[in-house]
Amino acid sequence: MLNVIIGTQWGDEGKGKITDFYAKKADVVVRFQGGNNAGHTVIVGDRVYKFHIIPSGSVEEKILVIGNGVVVDPKVLIEEINTLKKEGKSVKLYISERANLIMPYHKVEDEIHEELKGDLKAGSTKRGIGPCYADKIARFGIRFVDLIDDEVFRKKLSMILSMKNKIFKTFGRKPLDYDQIYTEYSKYGKILGDYVTDISLLLEKFLKEGKNILMEGAQGTHLDIDHGIYPYTTSSHTVAGGACIGAGVPPQRIDKIIGVVKAYTSRVGTGPVPTELEDEVGEHLRDVGKEYGTTTGRPRRCGWLDLVMVKYAHRINGLTGIALTKLDVLCGLEKVKIATAYEYDGERIEEFPANMKILAKCNPVYKEFKGWKEFDKEKIKRDGYKALPEEAKNYVEFISKFIGVPIYLISYGPKRSETIVLREFFG
Ligand code: IMP
Repeated sequence: MLNVIIGTQWGDEGKGKITDFYAKKADVVVRFQGGNNAGHTVIVGDRVYKFHIIPSGSVEEKILVIGNGVVVDPKVLIEEINTLKKEGKSVKLYISERANLIMPYHKVEDEIHEELKGDLKAGSTKRGIGPCYADKIARFGIRFVDLIDDEVFRKKLSMILSMKNKIFKTFGRKPLDYDQIYTEYSKYGKILGDYVTDISLLLEKFLKEGKNILMEGAQGTHLDIDHGIYPYTTSSHTVAGGACIGAGVPPQRIDKIIGVVKAYTSRVGTGPVPTELEDEVGEHLRDVGKEYGTTTGRPRRCGWLDLVMVKYAHRINGLTGIALTKLDVLCGLEKVKIATAYEYDGERIEEFPANMKILAKCNPVYKEFKGWKEFDKEKIKRDGYKALPEEAKNYVEFISKFIGVPIYLISYGPKRSETIVLREFFG
């Protein structure tokens, strides 16, 4: 069985907790895109773990797979492996030999690009993600299979670095030193070499053995390089189709696609956000929802739930179910709103536009709901969904009906126990 978890908004939907929740029942957790621009916090008991590149399920000692679609900063990966080992966890990790490496020059390029782009900049995390993907597409990338072959690594690094240094010179930047990079990365190659393998082959074997495989998306649908709010996107395929490309599995092997929907909207980066609230409700969402980036610590822009976005995400991903997160953050608000369409230039728009000039001028058309008081979490833990206030149930049921997809689970707090399961995902 192979299931995929996808963000339906701009990332930060709470996928870490959801993936970790389902990872308990999975045998294998796979990352298939992105790099250490992602970040997830996992709370188990009193311990708080923050990871950027290692797949979820690591604290559960699941089999962890980094697919070919991921771009890997080896230093960060080694640090995370060491954190897990220090915690006494056994690390069963496999890295695709086809995955590209983030090199020191990618981070310099990220800075240069963001400087030059002006108001077209995406608000990058500056981890070198975009330039690494750009090199991959331009066929200047260095893959793990190159890193562990000294002759190939030397040849590629020397060719690529001399080209990058010429470019850096024209921007008044210092050239990077070949020997320094070679020595540092060769060391990484020796540490990580044993984890490197053919991931597609491995996953085929796992499927034949009947293992439960969970594919974990990073970021969200609206950050996808093709389907997101380009150019304010990330550089990878964050949608369900990306799982096939990024790990070498055939599309028909996918069983379920779960879309994580946060009960409101947040965005950490630039570009239009139609439902953004720059008032006390926006502050409530940011403060109560602790909306500060896991990777960069930046405050997130917050607003009402936008179902135009989620409907689009359903069309692109073909969701079989929704995991609704952070419903508790809305508690205590007098009224709650959901955008169901936009108004642009006097016309009603039902579909998410590709033109960012249009999106920037879209005003949300809202459906208003009566708010609800704080949740009685003990009661919910005991009685499940029926213990939610009626107003909260109306809100949840509206989302499910509007999108036309069942709700698999509702998360009403950061702890793993604060989860209502409405339908089983596996089986
Ligand atoms: P980059 O992928 O670091 O270059 O960033 C490109 C855009 O994607 C920026 O707007 C980032 O804020 C956004 N982004 C990247 N990763 C995440 C994430 O994990 N959550 C939310 N936004 C992200």
